[in-house]
Amino acid sequence: MQNKKKIILDVDTGIDDALAIIYAVKSDDILVEGITTGFGNVDVKQATENTLKVLDLINPSYEIPVSAGADKPLFRPRREPSVAIHGHDGLGEYPLPATKRYPVEQHASDFIIKKIHENLHNITLVFTGRLTNLAIALAKDPSIASKVERLVLMGGALHVPGNVTEVAEANIHGDPEAAHRVFESGIPITMVGLDVTSKTKFGEEHFGQVMEQLPVDQQGLRDFFDHIFQFSFNASDQLNEGRFRLMHDPLAVGVAIDPNYVKTKDFYIYIETRGALSSGATLADLRTPQTKTNASVCIKVNDELFLQHYIDTIVK
Ligand code: RIB
Ligand code: CA
Repeated sequence: MQNKKKIILDVDTGIDDALAIIYAVKSDDILVEGITTGFGNVDVKQATENTLKVLDLINPSYEIPVSAGADKPLFRPRREPSVAIHGHDGLGEYPLPATKRYPVEQHASDFIIKKIHENLHNITLVFTGRLTNLAIALAKDPSIASKVERLVLMGGALHVPGNVTEVAEANIHGDPEAAHRVFESGIPITMVGLDVTSKTKFGEEHFGQVMEQLPVDQQGLRDFFDHIFQFSFNASDQLNEGRFRLMHDPLAVGVAIDPNYVKTKDFYIYIETRGALSSGATLADLRTPQTKTNASVCIKVNDELFLQHYIDTIVK
């Protein structure tokens, strides 16, 4: 276990969060110290239940505590998520059996603080939902910003359009004030935004490879993948995008495993929190060389190399 990268995964378990959890848990390079949950694709209760059910499905070889967190943004009402992308229950209405697992009592923000102090400079935060739990943790203990290895977050859009508005990506738009606090905190950030995740098109050929290679003794996982990928392909087909699933959240885990899947450039990222049309946008001053920076922004991805690594990992 020694040379594995320790991470805390924060999720709003919808379909791509579930795919990210499976990837992280099955990776030989990662030790998941804990999973924290929050509102986003579904409410925090459903996100927590979905996370526990996904852990039941993959039955990790080690204990992975789950800690529930925020059920609303810091200051705004919660925005209703897109049912088309994740289904009403967040997992494409797939009937996973009731879980016997329980979350820990501790709030996610306190769990994050505790784990960082237990693993000083030896833990990476991987966030694939809103940044609310981290913003609360930073408000409680600002020192954690200098005690983590890095924050790798799925969120934002710098040189490409948004996906929930013309300019904003869902995880940032879902709680702009939380994102602002995180980007201003001094925590080392790698921003895995739509600039790169919109290139990670997991299509029917990739799905075919998984179903060819996944051992038949993992029938539960095979059935789950069959359902959620068909749900995803149909959803993207109906949006006239073609038959694929964008691997937003799994790419954030992939970048935590191996930063070589992406090319980054450092910027100072400002979060728009006031605009009537632009709220949740991740902005940088592109006119001048960056005199100060607060994030390494992913600007290119070797999508096929990443997708093949994803497949090789989850079929183990
Ligand atoms: O914009 C994509 C992000 O929003 C992903 O994390 C997806 O799960 C949703 O939370
Ligand atoms: Ca997510």
